[in-house]
Amino acid sequence: MNCKMKVAIVYASITGNTKELAEELFELFLAHSVEVTLYKIEDFPLLDLNQFDAIAVGTYTWGNGEIPTEMRGLYQAFELLGRKSLVTAIFGTGDSFYLRYCGAVDLFRDMLYVHTNLAAILKVELTPQDQDVDRCHRLVVAIVNRVQRIQHVANGLAGRH
Ligand SMILES: Cc1cc2nc3c(=O)[nH]c(=O)nc-3n(C[C@H](O)[C@H](O)[C@H](O)COP(=O)(O)O)c2cc1C
Repeated sequence: MNCKMKVAIVYASITGNTKELAEELFELFLAHSVEVTLYKIEDFPLLDLNQFDAIAVGTYTWGNGEIPTEMRGLYQAFELLGRKSLVTAIFGTGDSFYLRYCGAVDLFRDMLYVHTNLAAILKVELTPQDQDVDRCHRLVVAIVNRVQRIQHVANGLAGRH
């Protein structure tokens, strides 16, 4: 499949679980010939948010189901941008020992659903396992299909003028 789309994966990770998931997604996007860039949250230029067709956000959960401090700027940037044609996905790792399992994923999900075109959600228990590869693959396909559909409609509209 040859897709003309620009995708960013932006993640926060302390002990490496979410990083592992982000790297798996990165490899899968590459396998779909997508132009994809992997960013740690501290390296992601928030002003470039609008330069991508799709953004996959990865986060661990902190405190009592909270979004990590370093992810809050990105959360607010999506709210401010409010671009319904921006395809997004939210993924993360958590520990079901806690009451709010992957609570940060849920908080991002609710916001991204309102302000962007949310295509996929993925929660993984701690370290990604073999069976999670298929779930990652489904997230990638959901994003690729959603962007292609948007581009198809946009090209159709452009052709009318
Ligand atoms: C102080 C602390 C609070 C946490 N709170 C939650 C929580 O509320 N919900 C949850 O699902 N996981 C919680 N976790 C688990 C982490 O989100 C989980 O270990 C995650 O995989 C860490 O991701 P990382 O390896 O990418 O840093 C907590 C972990 C710590 C140390």
